[in-house]
Amino acid sequence: MSERLVRSSRRAGPRPDPGVVHIGLLGCGTVGGEVLRLLREHADLITHRTGRRLEVAKVAVARRDKPRRVPVPPDRLVDDGWAVVQDEGVDVVVEVMGGVEPAYTYIRRALALGRPVVTANKRLLGTHGPELLRLADTSGVGLYFEAAVGGAIPLIKPLRESLAADRIHAITGILNGTTNYILTRMSEEGWTFEHALAAAQEHGFAEADPDEDLDGHDAAAKLAILATVAFHAPVTAEQVYRDGIAAIGPREIAYARQLGYAVKLLAIAAERDGGLDCRVHPTLLPLTHPLATIRDERNAVLVTGAATGPILFSGPGAGGTPTAVVVLGDIIEAADGRGSGAWPVRDSTFLARPVLPIGDLVVPSCLFLEVVDRPGVFAKVAAVFGEEMVSLASIVQKSRGETADVVLMTHEAPDGAVQRVVSRLRAMDVVAAVGPVLRVQEQEPRPG
Ligand code: HSE
Repeated sequence: MSERLVRSSRRAGPRPDPGVVHIGLLGCGTVGGEVLRLLREHADLITHRTGRRLEVAKVAVARRDKPRRVPVPPDRLVDDGWAVVQDEGVDVVVEVMGGVEPAYTYIRRALALGRPVVTANKRLLGTHGPELLRLADTSGVGLYFEAAVGGAIPLIKPLRESLAADRIHAITGILNGTTNYILTRMSEEGWTFEHALAAAQEHGFAEADPDEDLDGHDAAAKLAILATVAFHAPVTAEQVYRDGIAAIGPREIAYARQLGYAVKLLAIAAERDGGLDCRVHPTLLPLTHPLATIRDERNAVLVTGAATGPILFSGPGAGGTPTAVVVLGDIIEAADGRGSGAWPVRDSTFLARPVLPIGDLVVPSCLFLEVVDRPGVFAKVAAVFGEEMVSLASIVQKSRGETADVVLMTHEAPDGAVQRVVSRLRAMDVVAAVGPVLRVQEQEPRPG
């Protein structure tokens, strides 16, 4: 429906006093600056749609004298976060500073004082999310965090509200833009890992410490947040099994493609017998899988519900402007005062659901080896698989002179048994190198 039609369908007469909502901003970096810019540029649109005027009352920054891309009136700048959190004139506290501390202390205080909080802080919520939800619930105040996962992709609200009546079986996602960008560039352009990482850093997707992206910490924090909301179970990032992409290069990607697979860093949370499966690791996906087609820094999440079946959400998962617009959406909801950001996800609805050990997971895996190319070597390698009861499904071998590349695909096998195979192969003198072990996901995890 066009804006004009919406307007004409509203009742005539004077509009009510829009009221002013005073925002206190903690941090003014990439996301905070864009929040300010969008607030200014979309001010009329927001007021027209919500009946309220959003005004930035205070902005706490580390350095007041730092030049800013989006200027802030000097009388609103403070260098102490407490000046925002404790200010009785602030209606909504917006935390976009990132990192665990001091954001954790500020948010706890703001919630305890009864001030609604909007945050985009995945690391903080990945570590202390369940506890902060509890505090928000007992304080009777809202905690809003749509921007913490998947940038501009609406995920938290659909999971907690639209799908509140469904039983979610699995969430399978590409939750880190930097690693998806690197894997895409290595796959499509044959770039080296280093080149692709440097380009991701130049584009500004990567965390200040890129190991947060590469080692899977960033995706694990986001998965913990999604799992908490989707399964009504308190999950933290340290419970998520994690393996990064540092061992993957263009060679593994090319072999995977020959076998009909794409390599993606997947974040998976699924119901399994007796608990939850929560893991982040590089994964082989059939080239026809919907997540295999997600390129560059885009994020995507496949939510599988008992009643709905799979639903795919995808979009820009990183970047100041897309993230800022979702922060503003949360501010609007917080200002409205009717929602709580989390409801019905709260302590009293949490179910005790243990996160199960990765060793018990049963999936097919793909192993990349470099072995000495002489008679009898393959028999020795294959014997290890047999002794650990891991059945081989396919083998590709390519001679490189003195050595040969061997790519082995297993049938479904317990992850613990595959890890024992890997340790034994590493100790063999005919095995020159053991590359990454990539778990294979042919279809979405099923309950059971
Ligand atoms: N470093 C993150 C990413 C930024 O690459 O996805 C968005 O959270």
